[in-house]
Amino acid sequence: MAKQKISSYVCNDCGADFNKWQGQCAECGAWNTLTELRIGSSKNSSVMRNAGFSGAANGSISVLSEIMLDEVPRIITGSVEFDLVLGGGLVPGSCILVGGEPGAGKSTLLLQHLCSLAQNHKSLYVTGEESPQQVAMRASRLELPSDKLQIMAETSVEAICAAAIQYQPKILVVDSIQVMHLDDVASAPGSVSQVRESAAMLIRYAKETNTVLLLVGHVTKDGVIAGPKVLEHMIDCSMMLESSNDSHFRTLRCNKNRFGAINELGVFAMTDKGLREVPNPSAIFLQRGDEVASGSLVMVIWEGTRPLLVELQALVDPSHLGNPRRVTVGLDHNRLAMLLAVLHRHGGLMVGDQDVFVNVVGGVKALETSADLALILAVISSFRDRPLPRDLVVFGEVGLSGEIRPVPNGQERLREAVKHGFKRAVVPAGNAPKKAIRGMEVIAVRKLTDAIEALD
Ligand code: TYD
Ligand code: MG
Repeated sequence: MAKQKISSYVCNDCGADFNKWQGQCAECGAWNTLTELRIGSSKNSSVMRNAGFSGAANGSISVLSEIMLDEVPRIITGSVEFDLVLGGGLVPGSCILVGGEPGAGKSTLLLQHLCSLAQNHKSLYVTGEESPQQVAMRASRLELPSDKLQIMAETSVEAICAAAIQYQPKILVVDSIQVMHLDDVASAPGSVSQVRESAAMLIRYAKETNTVLLLVGHVTKDGVIAGPKVLEHMIDCSMMLESSNDSHFRTLRCNKNRFGAINELGVFAMTDKGLREVPNPSAIFLQRGDEVASGSLVMVIWEGTRPLLVELQALVDPSHLGNPRRVTVGLDHNRLAMLLAVLHRHGGLMVGDQDVFVNVVGGVKALETSADLALILAVISSFRDRPLPRDLVVFGEVGLSGEIRPVPNGQERLREAVKHGFKRAVVPAGNAPKKAIRGMEVIAVRKLTDAIEALD
């Protein structure tokens, strides 16, 4: 009998599967990202079988409304920011991937939370990268309550599952998935096949035993090592811990969450005592000097369920190139091109011979349309070299015919601005408050020209 071929080719970037190797991934278009995935017999690994885990569902059909809905209480981590990003705490039986570049602080974040969670819930921290001594040293330096937390240094997934079956933790942390391996899979740890199969087995364990599984995953910029991308479809919640350029602030953001809202932003600061929550994130992104330069403006964006005030900077400078440059950091590149065209057509300002750079301060990403109006006004301010008032905030979407469109949650945005001492706001007419807000002059605009005039 012919030997059954059990291998496929997987894209490192998007995780798409192919039967044959090809130079370019047909799904995401990335070059040279396909690697061979050898599928062993890990599905029915002996450890899981011996412990009574078949890995197969029982296959019965039932009516949706008859399915028992026992409200499983979420496990509250006690950290306001972490709970916010999770959508209100950890859901038993869910798998959460915490991604980020090496050194972002993933291990610190999880160790801190697990130490406090272990006080009330059985928890197991599996470290594959550091020795137990190193983790213990860090815990004692950060003065964490480490008397209840169980720790294990292991990289074999079979051994981890066997230990977990015995100890039965409610919360299991595996740091990191890139160093985990299954004996059945014949490739090096960190390769796509190992990462995928190891995660699959851990997730199967978590689902069957109703354990919270937190996986750490490293991302590299060029995606050489199998990044968390290949896992994204298997897990319930994927979050990224990111640091803005050499700042000590870390933002935690969910980009997939089966149990809560996504795009919720949690802000932490890395201090000598570990990660500290930043309860008022707007304040840190607003640290401006006394003198405001031209092209700088504060806008109110919406992050998940709360408003965030961030500074936007634009620099417009005569270009020496045939093709003037359009550079965005934290904003959509195509949106900038579109808004410059709107500015030309409906605002009468031509920047075709200028380089335009725009940047959102603090490494924040403002991909919402409410940044449109702020972007245009910042560009005008820089072009004319005329600073905008220091106490001004702006938000609003700009349409292709130069109309200013309302954005969701206008009132909350204005209230947040008042809280931070802003006294003037240029907002879409549709977002103008019905009752005057004390201490805030609201300038409601319908057209781009109105907004430009209001600031002249
Ligand atoms: P770590 O959690 O080990 O990162 P990761 O697991 O994501 O690779 O954190 C590493 C960085 O955090 C390291 O550069 C040092 C810094 N750090 C502090 O600044 N203060 C601290 O108290 C700790 C524990 C780490
Ligand atoms: Mg680490």
